[in-house]
Amino acid sequence: MKSNSVQDIYPFLKFSPGNRSDYLPPNYYDSIIKPYSVKGTEDFKCITDSILSLPDSATVVELGGGSGRVTRHATDLLDEKQASYHVNDLSPAMVSILKDNFPRTNVYELDHLAFLEKIPKVVDSIDYIFSLWSLSHSLQQEIEKCGYEKAYDRFYSVLQDIIDKMKPKSEITIIHFDLTTPEQAICQRQYGKYFAEFNPKTLMSGQAPSKRILDRTIELLRSDGSVTFEVQRVSGDPIYYENSSEALEVLMNFHMEGEFNSHVDLEEIVAEVLDDIKSHTLEDGRVVISTGWYLYRIFVNTAAAEISRFKSGA
Ligand SMILES: C[S@@+](CC[C@H](N)C(=O)[O-])C[C@H]1O[C@@H](n2cnc3c(N)ncnc32)[C@H](O)[C@@H]1O
Repeated sequence: MKSNSVQDIYPFLKFSPGNRSDYLPPNYYDSIIKPYSVKGTEDFKCITDSILSLPDSATVVELGGGSGRVTRHATDLLDEKQASYHVNDLSPAMVSILKDNFPRTNVYELDHLAFLEKIPKVVDSIDYIFSLWSLSHSLQQEIEKCGYEKAYDRFYSVLQDIIDKMKPKSEITIIHFDLTTPEQAICQRQYGKYFAEFNPKTLMSGQAPSKRILDRTIELLRSDGSVTFEVQRVSGDPIYYENSSEALEVLMNFHMEGEFNSHVDLEEIVAEVLDDIKSHTLEDGRVVISTGWYLYRIFVNTAAAEISRFKSGA
């Protein structure tokens, strides 16, 4: 079989994002994403309590607004509070949707690290930062560009600077994927073959390099007294797919972002993914795959924030 014949059987495999920043088109993203929930409560509700406890006129920063799935929830909750809302995304199409749908927010077409560098220059202080399923993209791209250690150094320095701008006791909430879930393990089988940093022999603790950077950074910030944090391994509700074709589309085009759709080994990759899907297939043909993720809550220490304000003379 030639690689184009597998695309004839599964025409959705013709999807190919132009370059890194294009990501999935917003409409396709909305149509393909499955609900991520815990006992029926959607993933994005993890920010609800933190948002509701914010003071009026709070400054809120969202990393990776995408098509606005979480932005909608956050801005609805903030409706009465006259908040100053800052959100970025790297994808021009996502940014355009965010600008259209959330005209009262400040939208930036920037990579996360560049955005985190910019924000301290445009706001006086920050009450809340959150990022769902997005920060890892930027860390992974930075690793590809300049290697793990340099990516770690930059992220540490960027986070240190932004924490200096955060109010005492303010919070950063992050959702990062768990590479060891059955869902992600299917993707990791492919990443492990083609990306050195995902090679199972070098993959420490079985987790993605972006998660290791995040863990290492917040541990260092905790040891110097800047933050405290809680990390929770969340078991999500399993996701049901109508059939193996739907599961294949979501895995190849959403989770793997069409990365392998023009690969010379496409036929072999698809055969392996279908083989993995088979072990999650029910007798009626539906596919059910377990999910899970890591929820980070990072709290800026009062003392650290005050020392930093004292140093800057604010
Ligand atoms: C999985 S989506 C998450 C979107 C949204 N937070 C949600 O939960 O629906 C990932 C988003 O990260 C964006 N993205 C990818 N690389 C990025 C980068 N380096 N900097 C900023 N955003 C990036 C993509 O365009 C996409 O909108």
